Amino acid sequence: MSRVLVTGGAGFIGSHTCDLLLSNQFEVRVLDSLQPRVHPRGLPQYLHRDVEFQQGDVRDRAALERALEGVRYVYHLAAYQDYMPDFHRFLDVNATSTALLYEIIVDRRLPVEKVIVASSQSVYGEGKYECPRHGALYPGPRPIEQLERSQWEHACPICGTDLQPSPFDEAVVKPHTAYGISKYAAEQLAVQLGRRYGIPSVALRYSIVQGPRNSPHNSYSGVCRVFTQRALHGKRPVVYEDGRQLRDYVHIQDVAAANLLVLLMKEADGQSFNVGGQRAATVLECAQLVAAACGQPLEPILRGEFRVGDTRHTVSDSMRLRRLGWIPRHSLEDIVRDYVGWMREQDEVPDNSDAAAKEMLLNGVLRPAAVTA
Ligand SMILES: NC(=O)c1ccc[n+]([C@@H]2O[C@H](COP(=O)([O-])OP(=O)(O)OC[C@H]3O[C@@H](n4cnc5c(N)ncnc54)[C@H](O)[C@@H]3O)[C@@H](O)[C@H]2O)c1
Repeated sequence: MSRVLVTGGAGFIGSHTCDLLLSNQFEVRVLDSLQPRVHPRGLPQYLHRDVEFQQGDVRDRAALERALEGVRYVYHLAAYQDYMPDFHRFLDVNATSTALLYEIIVDRRLPVEKVIVASSQSVYGEGKYECPRHGALYPGPRPIEQLERSQWEHACPICGTDLQPSPFDEAVVKPHTAYGISKYAAEQLAVQLGRRYGIPSVALRYSIVQGPRNSPHNSYSGVCRVFTQRALHGKRPVVYEDGRQLRDYVHIQDVAAANLLVLLMKEADGQSFNVGGQRAATVLECAQLVAAACGQPLEPILRGEFRVGDTRHTVSDSMRLRRLGWIPRHSLEDIVRDYVGWMREQDEVPDNSDAAAKEMLLNGVLRPAAVTA
């Protein structure tokens, strides 16, 4: 049997990946520090009992060395994800741990046959847009002064026309948050060191992954969580900007399937892949779908607040992975139904959205709406 190490395997994507690996006859070991922000009650009950669990930090050499013993494949999923301005922590947890992983494999000449690292759509920054006159553009973040005037769309720097969003493939990368930069650093370390030292490596750039087990305590876990928590407490969803931001949401089972596929296919080696959803949807549509699934026809609150660092439209084109035979099988409606169904089964549904918004306001991450005359 082949043993697989899954770092961050007690988390959302990791635990589903473990289940799929076990059902495909792999032995699975997890290294996870059980971050209190994700797991306030410690080891989650959903973790499969056949998983060999080791508690430890991926930045700790001894813990990582122990976890790598007798391992054939590695999924490196442990990460720090948040909106908070503790910039160094993103690099420390996400990038340094990836370098350490390769350092140990190379130093100890470990017979690891493949490493798969979790990257993110955030490596594209603002993504790709089209100007009807000037073609494809990859703008930087929107200036705060522009957002303070409630002007949400990107404008062409040459003619000033509002740009049209366009799905992006893997070609142009332009991260602009500490998280996005750390994820790109991690995937470059994996792909480049993997190439140099003959360790087949793959980076998967997930879009917004949603579904059961997405920690209700993790503030970086996507809008489905916060909309569901509020709806189940009878509160209206709060939508930033004008709610017309486009996103693509991908079901956790499609992500687990992508993880397994690239492990099994040699053709994936040395590459980065988008792992996106079936279609683009606005944040408003997502809010409305969640409200309907919760049986709460709650009208969204649109105050025109915005979060610094949020992108306007980000939609991945997953053709490269589709060419290897992967398809996203689940619709946004499936995603919302499965997530809301799972949340309803929980003993308690925490809702700290108002406190989180207050903290973001204090930190300057969330900015109030423009003052109108
Ligand atoms: N969920 C998404 O929408 C999404 C999108 C893009 C990329 N990703 C990436 O996918 C991976 C998994 O994300 P997830 O949604 O399952 O997150 P998650 O928070 O549910 O799981 C992450 C796990 O890593 C563990 N962890 C955190 N820091 C650690 C450390 N220093 N040492 C050991 N373990 C540590 C946590 O305890 C947690 O169990 C991450 O790398 C994330 O950046 C997720």
